[in-house]
Amino acid sequence: MSEPRYILVAVAWPYAQGPLHLGHIAGAYLPPDIFARYHRLAGNEVLMVSGSDVHGTPITVKAEQEGVTPQEIVDRYHPEFLSYWERLGISFDLFTTTGTEIHYRVAQEFFLKLLENGHLYRKVTEQFYDEERGQFLPDRYIEGTCPHCSYPNARGDQCDNCGRTLDPSDLIDPRSKLTGSTPVLRETEHYYWRLSAFEKQLEEWLLTRKGWRPHVLNFALGMVRDGLQDRAFTRDLDWGIPIPVDDIGEGKSIYVWWEAVMGYYSAPQEWAQRQGDPDAWKKWWTDPSAESYYFVGKDNIPFHAVYWPALLMGHGGLNLPTNVPANQYVTFGGRKASKSMGVGRPLSWYLDRLEPDALRFALASVLPEQNDTDLFDDEIVRRVNEELVSTWGNLVNRTLSLTSRNFDGAVPSPGELAGEDRKLLTAVDAALEEEAAHIEAVELRAGLRTALGAAAEVNAYLNATEPWKLVKEDRARAATVLWTAVQAVAGVRVAFAPYLPFSTEALGEMLGIGPVEKWSRPEVPAGTELGEIRPLFAKLDDDALADE
Ligand code: MF3
Ligand code: ZN
Repeated sequence: MSEPRYILVAVAWPYAQGPLHLGHIAGAYLPPDIFARYHRLAGNEVLMVSGSDVHGTPITVKAEQEGVTPQEIVDRYHPEFLSYWERLGISFDLFTTTGTEIHYRVAQEFFLKLLENGHLYRKVTEQFYDEERGQFLPDRYIEGTCPHCSYPNARGDQCDNCGRTLDPSDLIDPRSKLTGSTPVLRETEHYYWRLSAFEKQLEEWLLTRKGWRPHVLNFALGMVRDGLQDRAFTRDLDWGIPIPVDDIGEGKSIYVWWEAVMGYYSAPQEWAQRQGDPDAWKKWWTDPSAESYYFVGKDNIPFHAVYWPALLMGHGGLNLPTNVPANQYVTFGGRKASKSMGVGRPLSWYLDRLEPDALRFALASVLPEQNDTDLFDDEIVRRVNEELVSTWGNLVNRTLSLTSRNFDGAVPSPGELAGEDRKLLTAVDAALEEEAAHIEAVELRAGLRTALGAAAEVNAYLNATEPWKLVKEDRARAATVLWTAVQAVAGVRVAFAPYLPFSTEALGEMLGIGPVEKWSRPEVPAGTELGEIRPLFAKLDDDALADE
């Protein structure tokens, strides 16, 4: 066997300030799970990490609106996120938060390293200040018109219309989110990051990134070629990680985005500590042969394809991203905010109505890898019934029931294989190889199509060989055909394993074999006792997702 590859599966850190929706799952959480599950089976060393992003104005603005503390907001949503991963089978090695001691330490050390390397400098600037409230207005405390696209409701940190990242001082006609008043400018001192110095190095590095999605690479290159401005590294905000120096006054914290991305570096260290092997993280971070894949939505491209690489370059000695397979958006029901459309429904609503694998299947079929995609509730029902249940669920059911009923609940002994039998098994093996290539390239939709295609071939084989007739006419041949079909089903099960973890496990019991252990078709020996055969998935009623 070849040496395992070390693969860091880095997943966007959701702000702990609101429930997640199907769009988040399809955009950022299901894809890394499929990718990680595949790589574990392929024999690689996967470390999949993320956590709740707990600092900055996204949290304080929400706390302000509800009249509670920021910590209360975090304590509400972090456990909720953990419950989603559990219910959906998202297999993090660690899902932590940016509020841990180790994250504070790592972020502060990172700051000092950048300072030491000459990438940070002090600068007195004028920033917006709300006189009614008596505080500075960083990021989301301020709204105004985007200087790039004229969108009237841009936030101080980013314009949701054109995707550009902003500094509050870029906004035209700024207004305070706290009081609605027009802010005044007031002097304050901050650390600035000499990002402009990284233009050339970033462009050269981006040009070496083969196989990146064109929309990601083009966006990142466009940003770099438009010119990068130095960015404020700190904020006048208490709710954040305090800077580890005291020469610019009180109440300064590291800008939430700069420390959040450092979570990709601190979380593996926390994981290693929990393993009782504090240096174990280094394999993924300092060995140049390790790979790292960052799974994010497209609004996060600037931070993962430009700023985080620049921070890593400024730090030195750490691996740059192998790939940032950012997704476009999935919209539900064409973006209309109607109650009957997915956009208004929390994830838990779907989890209460669908089996997790059914939901994973429907989302994986429409992952917005290259383009924005629409998904309607009736399409979820249709895909589950017409593809998952009828192609895969029914195949399993008819193969195993027929075998169990006619051969005393066990896998029969085959005679010599005919050409069509060998051809089927070869096709299943080839599908596993083809699917592996898709998943390696983060073409997860195509990977799922390949798995479904393999299931369809087994169905076609059964239709051609008709074992339900053979059991009466030629029992020996029936045994060979059903043995072959069981082997093929066991192979297709591997193909679906990254996508459908729950039913994969259930099918292991029915097949009388254990969990899927590697990325190849296992042999199910003749004589293996089959478990109790039950439908793998429930067929959905047409109105399964209709309003009550
Ligand atoms: N919290 C951010 C969001 O929800 C994502 C942060 S990803 C990180 O958009 F890497 F910066 F943490
Ligand atoms: Zn804009």
